[in-house]
Amino acid sequence: MGFQKIRKDVYYVGVQDWNRRTFDELIPLPDGTSYNAYVVRGSEKIALIDAVDPPKIEELLTNLRKLGISKLDYVISNHAEQDHSGGIPMVLEMYPEAVVVTNSKCKIFLQDLLNIPAEKFLEIKHEDTLSLGNKTLKFLLAAWVHWPETMFTYLEEDKILFPGDLFGSHMASSELFVLDEAKVYFAAKRYFAEIMMPFRTNIQKHMDMLNNYELEIIAPTHGQVYDNPEFILEQYKNWISDGVENKVLIPYVSMHGSVEKMVNYLTEKLTEYKVTVIPFNMSVTDIGEFAMELVDAATVVIGSSTVHVGPHPKMIYAAYLTNILRPKAKFASIIGSYGWGSRMVDMIKDLLTNFKGELLEPVISKGYPKEVDFKALDELAELIAMKHKNL
Ligand code: FEO
Repeated sequence: MGFQKIRKDVYYVGVQDWNRRTFDELIPLPDGTSYNAYVVRGSEKIALIDAVDPPKIEELLTNLRKLGISKLDYVISNHAEQDHSGGIPMVLEMYPEAVVVTNSKCKIFLQDLLNIPAEKFLEIKHEDTLSLGNKTLKFLLAAWVHWPETMFTYLEEDKILFPGDLFGSHMASSELFVLDEAKVYFAAKRYFAEIMMPFRTNIQKHMDMLNNYELEIIAPTHGQVYDNPEFILEQYKNWISDGVENKVLIPYVSMHGSVEKMVNYLTEKLTEYKVTVIPFNMSVTDIGEFAMELVDAATVVIGSSTVHVGPHPKMIYAAYLTNILRPKAKFASIIGSYGWGSRMVDMIKDLLTNFKGELLEPVISKGYPKEVDFKALDELAELIAMKHKNL
């Protein structure tokens, strides 16, 4: 894609990864992704903000050459995860005079992960500034967004925030700036759910800090650049708030139809109560879609068949994933069936260590659901509807 101008002497030099389909061997990437890197050319010094994933490093170096960068003074590392930092050693090979600018925690990560020698670093602290001549970079430490070393870089004169992964979206695009906010809304929400949701309390704190800065552009490390920062800031305010919607998610697996019958019945009953319901058959579900709905669902009902007295392994995965994403759901329950014996409920409960809401009485049928089970599902639906009314 080459480099693109953002403002006078501020350039996008990152790389689009159109064909990547999974991240961290976990997260589906239906729209690919990008590794965004930026150059700020001051009157005296030049800085590169973040690098790219190692398989794409040649494209970044080509962009720097095309931009005419023959000497680089600083490489700012906002975040040590290798999709951004992994290319730094190759940048240092091409520009041996460059110094890596980062905080003490990130410095340790970069030494551990990439063997960058200690003498290559300029260590900065919270709110330190670095002058490039007529442009000034200010560093804002933002721990646990989403690693402990994460930080933001703020370009004072142009009022541009480089927040690393925060506010990003996994989306490859030839368009530098957000043009279609509706499209980016879904990509950014999916990304928030998969990566940022477990840290929403910390994000709140760091967003409060950002209130002290005028922002004209937000330039994250994935996805498009926001020239209307209010758009993404508003979405994040909603997503990190405690507010939930009148919505029930039912992730489930059904081996022989009993659980599916219960899921369908509960779905129908909740719909009658005007509760939004989304069943997710975990055998075919894109976990990004499920995670995205976890952002604001009030209730999660886990549905599982029994395999050797425990939950179906796919539901162990689903419960574990739900737990580590730390959604703000207020209510949970478990439904399912078994043949000869089941410890399913206890085993699923044991996986939900981060859930601080109310667990509603599970409904477990022996074999195919019968009248008594449907009656219990009626009661569960009524209870959920009542709880949602009182939110
Ligand atoms: Fe895009 Fe946390 O790396």
